[in-house]
Amino acid sequence: MLYLSFMNMGKYSCSNCKRFYPPQPARWRCDCGSFLDLEFEPKFPIEKIVKRSPTLWRYREALPIHSNASVLSMNEGFTPLEEIELNGNRVLLKIDYLFPTGSYKDRGATVLVSKMKEWGVEKVVEDSSGNAGSAVAAYCAKAGIHCEVYVPQHTSPEKLVQIQAYGATLKKVEGSREKTAEKAMVAASKIPYASHCWNPFFLHGTKTFAFEVWEQMGWKTPDTLVLPIGHGTLFLGAYLGFKELKESGMIKRIPKMVGIQSASCAPLYQAFKKGWKETHPIQKKETIAEGIAIAEPVRGRQILESIRKTEGEVLAVTEREIKVTLKEMGRRGHFIEPTSAATIAGLKKYLRENRQKAKIISTLTGMGLKSAGKVL
Ligand SMILES: Cc1ncc(COP(=O)(O)O)c(C=O)c1O
Ligand SMILES: [Zn+2]
Repeated sequence: MLYLSFMNMGKYSCSNCKRFYPPQPARWRCDCGSFLDLEFEPKFPIEKIVKRSPTLWRYREALPIHSNASVLSMNEGFTPLEEIELNGNRVLLKIDYLFPTGSYKDRGATVLVSKMKEWGVEKVVEDSSGNAGSAVAAYCAKAGIHCEVYVPQHTSPEKLVQIQAYGATLKKVEGSREKTAEKAMVAASKIPYASHCWNPFFLHGTKTFAFEVWEQMGWKTPDTLVLPIGHGTLFLGAYLGFKELKESGMIKRIPKMVGIQSASCAPLYQAFKKGWKETHPIQKKETIAEGIAIAEPVRGRQILESIRKTEGEVLAVTEREIKVTLKEMGRRGHFIEPTSAATIAGLKKYLRENRQKAKIISTLTGMGLKSAGKVL
């Protein structure tokens, strides 16, 4: 087995109580109840990176998997960065619905499930609004790991079919997304929890969003990122990626982080507007943007911190704005999920208030076919 001996695989740390733990499959939160981060020192050998195939694994020395034999890859990542015009502004969109399972969640799943394989795990549990469950199920299928996925009863049926197609055991939960998470956590007392929001290895996959943008812009930093926030795994991953690039001396600053939420479920919008350090319970309403219908984001405190540190902001979009944008994007050749349309609706709002020459990056996170029924 080939080991990358230069790599330090890091330790788990708690930003709440400052405790440390060695990373291992059963550990998914701190004894104080808070989420954990993975402290790990990445490297960016550009001369090696540019010679590798166009997948997110080209940043190999920045990904915390010890052995190359553990890497589970379907040649994912290095998605196109497409320039489009929106209300007279030019913006760049990462086309992240072009991942093997049709959403950006593969960024996190390829790294997290590779780690599970490296640990010799035989079974995992995950809970999801559908896309993270599909992504984790797909990589588990590749690894031969049994996967149990908890989803809310009203998840788009296309996503439920997809999860089962990968051979995962589907557990539908009556009630909210929060109830679904509770059920999964009970299961996680016995089975390793491959949670996209709790497990820090997921963020060490989604951080490749930043590395790709940096490379595709000619090793430069954009001014602003406009990204969706549910649990914030892409948002925090992108922040982590740019933070690692800055700490390694590859770039000078981290872009302004602008988050988009559905007005029907906007705990971070509320907390940001009120100047809170943590999110607090909200009145959640039905939203077509099912991927960001998260009332209690696990890493709310961390998301708010990244927004404040970069002088960013949070915007909320209405159901009507999401639907109008979904149609518009279709007419531009992009059939996306309503959740992804919410991001672009937010981007339009941001551009209305911030007419400037800034280099702005946003993304299309999920394929429209995943919610075709709801869209119909
Ligand atoms: C298509 C799509 N976009 C964006 C998101 C938001 O991701 P997060 O909850 O990590 O912020 C999700 C989450 O499920 C999603 O499915
Ligand atoms: Zn702690």
